[in-house]
Amino acid sequence: MNKRFENKVVVITGGSDGIGLATAKLFAIEGAHVYITGRRQELLDEAVKEIGHGAVGVRGDAANAADVARLYEQIQQDHQKVDVVFANAGVYEVAPLDAIDDRHFDAIFNVNVKGVVFTVQKALPLMAAGSAVVLNGSIAGSKGLPGQSLYNASKAAVRSFARSWTNDLKERGIRVNVVSPGGTETRLIRSYLDAQPEVEKALNQSVPLGRLAQPNEVARAVLFLASSESSFVAGHELFVDGGVAAV
Ligand SMILES: NC(=O)c1ccc[n+]([C@@H]2O[C@H](COP(=O)([O-])OP(=O)(O)OC[C@H]3O[C@@H](n4cnc5c(N)ncnc54)[C@H](OP(=O)(O)O)[C@@H]3O)[C@@H](O)[C@H]2O)c1
Repeated sequence: MNKRFENKVVVITGGSDGIGLATAKLFAIEGAHVYITGRRQELLDEAVKEIGHGAVGVRGDAANAADVARLYEQIQQDHQKVDVVFANAGVYEVAPLDAIDDRHFDAIFNVNVKGVVFTVQKALPLMAAGSAVVLNGSIAGSKGLPGQSLYNASKAAVRSFARSWTNDLKERGIRVNVVSPGGTETRLIRSYLDAQPEVEKALNQSVPLGRLAQPNEVARAVLFLASSESSFVAGHELFVDGGVAAV
């Protein structure tokens, strides 16, 4: 098998479940030293076992700068470098405009926006030319999906970071891109849809390909953006959404 990430050090925030976990598994199979983060130790421990290949779990909140700094201190000690950052941790909350309060605002922007900034910024001293950053956006960043303007705006900010940071990091040879999933069948979403079959039917009908994504399908796009196969792709947003954004 082609191992595109042999001896590469890959950091995935929010890697203990969902898209992050699926991505961690693929990187590990392709030879990477994978570091995942998450807030719950138990979930992190289970994920590390599932990923195998010497994956490491570092408990921490992506919104907490001290936790992010501690993650990179450990990697500095273990490997002295980072080759790939997948800034994946993100939270989703519905909050119609007239119900938005300080708590909603901070809950979403602290993780989805501030967390992404410091996850990438604090990795930079360990990143050399040829390394890559992939940010997890969402089709929500390009849509006015009702009742979730904070989430939509947080993902529009993520998309914008890839544009600006492509310029900010070009001298250093670090590429930045965004993967933007549509509805993706994570464990959480699967259990929600099992209880709401009519919602699942409506969601499927809204997608040109007629279904939600599997986490693995998003993961494969992340590996492409992180690998040298995408060596001339920069500041780009790759939708993995069954055609929702494009059609
Ligand atoms: N699933 C979708 O349909 C979909 C669509 C578009 C975009 N996305 C984006 O994809 C990313 C991953 O979503 P997902 O659906 O895969 O989520 P998920 O299945 O709920 O998994 C989230 C993972 O992130 C961790 N996490 C959550 N908040 C964190 C924080 N503050 N710091 C560190 N880790 C944190 C969770 O563990 P702990 O809770 O233990 O921390 C868990 O490992 C998000 O950015 C989301 O916005 C998802």
